[in-house]
Amino acid sequence: TKQIPEIKMIDNTVNVVTEGYNFVGKRMSQMDTDVFEARILGKKMIVMTGRDAAELFYDESKIKREGAMPARIQKTLFGVNGIHTKDGQKHKIRKAMFMSMMTEERLAHLRTILQEEWKRKGLEMQQKKRAVLFDEAEELILRALCRWTGVPLTDAESWRRAYEVGVMIDAAGGIGKRYREGEKVRIKTEGWIQEVIEAVRDGRMKAEEGTPVHTVAFHEEEGELLDAHMAAIELLNVIRPAVAVARFVAFAALALHDFPEWKNKLSTTKELNNFANEVRRFYPFTPFLPAVVKEDFEWKGYRFKEGRHVILDVHGINRDPRIWEKPELFNPDRFHDFVDDRFNFIPQGGGDPETGHRCPGEPIAVMIIEESVRYLAENLSYDVPEQDLTINMVRMPTLPKDRFILDNIKVTER
Ligand code: HEM
Repeated sequence: TKQIPEIKMIDNTVNVVTEGYNFVGKRMSQMDTDVFEARILGKKMIVMTGRDAAELFYDESKIKREGAMPARIQKTLFGVNGIHTKDGQKHKIRKAMFMSMMTEERLAHLRTILQEEWKRKGLEMQQKKRAVLFDEAEELILRALCRWTGVPLTDAESWRRAYEVGVMIDAAGGIGKRYREGEKVRIKTEGWIQEVIEAVRDGRMKAEEGTPVHTVAFHEEEGELLDAHMAAIELLNVIRPAVAVARFVAFAALALHDFPEWKNKLSTTKELNNFANEVRRFYPFTPFLPAVVKEDFEWKGYRFKEGRHVILDVHGINRDPRIWEKPELFNPDRFHDFVDDRFNFIPQGGGDPETGHRCPGEPIAVMIIEESVRYLAENLSYDVPEQDLTINMVRMPTLPKDRFILDNIKVTER
């Protein structure tokens, strides 16, 4: 066996914090390796990148999730002890609940809702003349998702709730005040959704069969309903990540602005889909994913010891030159004949979403980006005023600094 290259520092947490998305890539190229060991957050971890590392990471006989997700990320982003932390049979039963929401018919309904919400949003923004696209997209998506899932949301509360869900997402990589705010709004938002679950169960609120609120409220494991709080966490695991797609909406608008030649190449469904995928590949979102070695094994001559924490460099795999030709170029056409083998394009995780931890929400994320780009490119005219559009690669999650301001907004009906 070979020795896994090691970064001999007492702890690298500070480097992760100061280098952000580029922490892994920088080390990998300095050491010319796909694997290294480093102490991060007080634990020795194996950090890995590349397509083959992704395949290993999703091999359930070798790698598990229990004990992997840092508590602070559960308390802000995901909710404590939700699906992200489960293994084996428990995970499969819970995952089936999420996958059952993604039927073709239900997804087609979501697309209609998104188109209606964009029409409404266009008129609202036209009236305002000037708007911050990221904030508008968060509110639009929350509205759309509440309609689709069956969670009541009044006009009076939609901006506040969208802001709170946004704070939860933003807190994931935060420390100090940013973290504490996230923890606070998560408790509040879980309370809101828990009340909806309880009302549906008591019959005080009607929920149509097949809607996610109904699915989650009446999902059973070993003959029992989920605890109402856990049900709220899992329903939020649908609504919250959809709201997070607002980041990709802002990035997509930035792409239309920085590479305007693509605007005229969005006439077919395939071209729109390629554009959405290139947005998911090119712009930084999920930085890394954590897991734990289930039992001792050897991989490419390296020994992985039971209990060792591992980290997969998702961002690096999106930019890996062994997978992508000229990865630093924004080029939706690269998806024209791209052969997806489940481990080479993993902005939302790899493997099979039915059986493993891969995100069940990819069709939703892609659809939100597609419908947003379609509306921005075809139905809205706007100026992009002077503003700071730099993307801070140290901050996780990140965003164009001024959240993409639009000016002189006009709906251009076709
Ligand atoms: C899991 C990313 C949108 C629901 C994940 C994972 C990633 C991810 C990286 C973890 C994969 C793993 O642990 O191996 C994203 C990104 C999104 C997005 C970047 C867009 C901004 C969505 C949407 C939904 C969703 C719209 C709505 C259903 C979930 C759930 C899991 C998950 C429930 C847990 C799956 C499991 O542990 O089996 N997502 N996601 N995500 N995502 Fe998404």
